Amino acid sequence: MKNIAIFASGAGSNAQKIIDHFRNSDKGRVTVIVCNKPGAGVLQIAEREGISSIIIEREAFFHSDKYIQLLQEQQIDLVVLAGFLWKIPANLVQAFPNRIINIHPALLPKFGGKGMYGHFVHEAVIAAGEKESGITVHYVNEKYDDGETILQERCVITPDDTPETVASKVQALEHQWFPVIVERLLTTF
Ligand code: GAR
Repeated sequence: MKNIAIFASGAGSNAQKIIDHFRNSDKGRVTVIVCNKPGAGVLQIAEREGISSIIIEREAFFHSDKYIQLLQEQQIDLVVLAGFLWKIPANLVQAFPNRIINIHPALLPKFGGKGMYGHFVHEAVIAAGEKESGITVHYVNEKYDDGETILQERCVITPDDTPETVASKVQALEHQWFPVIVERLLTTF
């Protein structure tokens, strides 16, 4: 049984899908939710699901090994970023080599980087006149949205699409694929 830590700061719909996927699994379980935003929806999900949650402090996150130790104590095998917007510091990347993955709501390397999250991504995609968008699941390194790609899935954009309709197409792909990819990775180590 592998232990998954989900880092999330938003509504937590992807966290919920991953929790659901592993609810009766013998391959893995969501052990802890790590969040940088008091009041985030994902914390209510953790509470309802009986999963422990941690609210991280910026100073300790960026300038100490506090959370590395905590993840190691909990014997975390995979860190899953599901709507977590802080950059992952180098010490954490190095402590979990190829064991931290992120989902991004666009086809990287397009529409990635600092400030490119949530609706900003979909607005930029529409503004650029893109004919398709999608999701990228990738390993996390010290740069934003930069590590090796694990999976991309695409959706078509039509002329009547808006940032909101693109968001819902992309979210459907996320919910369909992210839990599957997490499970696939867990079986490789
Ligand atoms: C997801 O769409 C995820 O791809 C995005 O945040 C959303 C979180 O939604 N992540 C980024 O934009 C990272 N740059 P959720 O809280 O409902 O899972």
